[in-house]
Amino acid sequence: MEIIHVSAECYPVAKAGGLGDVVGALPKYQSKAGHLAKVVMPMYRTKFLVNNEWDLVHEGRQQIGTHQFNYAIIKEKTNKLGFDLYLVDIYGLLDREKIYGYDDDTDRFIAFQVSVADWISKWEHKPDIVHCHDYHTGFIPFFFKYVYQFKNLESVPTVFTIHNGEYQGQFGWERSNLLPGYDTYKWGFLDWDNKINPFASAVKCAWKVTTVSPSYLEELKYAANGVEMLMQYEQGKCVGILNGIDTDVWDPSTDEFLVRNFNDQEVKEGKKKNKRELAIRFGLDADKPLIAFIGRLVGEKAADILPDAIRNSIYQHHGAVNFLILGSGDPVVEARLEETKNQLGGFVGTYIGYNEALSHLIYAGADFLLMPSRVEPCGLNQMYALRYGTVPMVRSTGGLKDTVRDFGDWQGFGIRFNNADVNDVTYSVGRAIDLYYNKKDLYNWMRSFMMNIDHSWDASAGDYLRLYQSL
Ligand code: ADP
Ligand code: GLC
Repeated sequence: MEIIHVSAECYPVAKAGGLGDVVGALPKYQSKAGHLAKVVMPMYRTKFLVNNEWDLVHEGRQQIGTHQFNYAIIKEKTNKLGFDLYLVDIYGLLDREKIYGYDDDTDRFIAFQVSVADWISKWEHKPDIVHCHDYHTGFIPFFFKYVYQFKNLESVPTVFTIHNGEYQGQFGWERSNLLPGYDTYKWGFLDWDNKINPFASAVKCAWKVTTVSPSYLEELKYAANGVEMLMQYEQGKCVGILNGIDTDVWDPSTDEFLVRNFNDQEVKEGKKKNKRELAIRFGLDADKPLIAFIGRLVGEKAADILPDAIRNSIYQHHGAVNFLILGSGDPVVEARLEETKNQLGGFVGTYIGYNEALSHLIYAGADFLLMPSRVEPCGLNQMYALRYGTVPMVRSTGGLKDTVRDFGDWQGFGIRFNNADVNDVTYSVGRAIDLYYNKKDLYNWMRSFMMNIDHSWDASAGDYLRLYQSL
């Protein structure tokens, strides 16, 4: 099959979170299984661009509103990523340092999608599947069905994967001229709640819709930032497929960012060396259990409760534990975390910012990984933690529920709690401390056990293929 993934992110080209990891891995597994997997994404100004060689494959001219622009499609020459990578270059719109966060993001991603659709509509053959990821690519299913200039793509099956329903990209109808000419009777396929909503449009127009875990699909029917009714109405075409992880990139026995590599037989020694490195860098105590948090400092991840939860845990448990935070996001949370670190130096370490290398070292060196998420469509961090022998401490929600079993349950290997609040986190920290100091055999068994849980893409990639084949 020829599968075209359209996405705003793809590791290692550009990544802001888990979306990048998934789009950098799934196509690789699909190629390995003998399919022709391609990724099409915007050309940002990244190092990856400079360090690789490119072929120009197509040039075109399009328009959004009154803005006419030229676009070029370039292809990475060597196929070293394990799939074909295509970048869409639009001068002045896409070539920026950051992926998101600009006032004209709406225009940027519409220009991207119009260019992708225009390019594919010029092909002599049709791809078997166009797989769109998150709202930045949510207009494509609508374009293929109802936009005059792309009518020849009407029969191409589209799949839309919801990585995160919190972001929907809606904007007012007064900006409808940004979209290319469509059958106006079909305006309802763009609208949700009197706004143009690319997320809702994709759910309505895609042939199939997937969420990144089965539990998240159920949750979206009752909590989806205003589109709950739509998720209920369209449930017949929705399916939850759990994400996998790229076990080549995330392998503690070969990971070049670690100070000591290790496998499940060497977990104790291996983790100790990496933890010591973290303790030196952040002024922590390597003999105490280390609880880490890695992620975007936003409400979804319940990052706002971290400062109080950390302080409370350290006081209540008489300083028996250390914390290390790696993340960036809400400036208020960033400042409060820095303040907490300054007040509780020796117990708390922080790195405010994005640091891929440090994240690997933390997965390896930490004893526990805390994820109190209010919403977690899948979550990859807990799966990386498992693979690196780090016990996940998670709120029972979305994909966290689907991947972590509490150690109090049969063959359990993690810590689960119900509420994203200070009390539940403090209580769970107590359980972690108890496990670390008083239940050493169980703790060591858990760590080797979880390193062997298979969360590779092998299983889930098969689920996607079966879904494609059904179309
Ligand atoms: P989300 O996509 O919602 O942010 P995921 O758990 O799916 O959450 O994926 C997050 C990914 O981003 C993981 O690969 C994680 O290691 C990485 N990550 C998040 N924040 C940082 C950071 N500050 N530095 C390095 N990596 C980070
Ligand atoms: C989103 C979700 C996260 C998921 C990731 C990859 O960003 O917030 O839970 O793991 O996408 O699908």
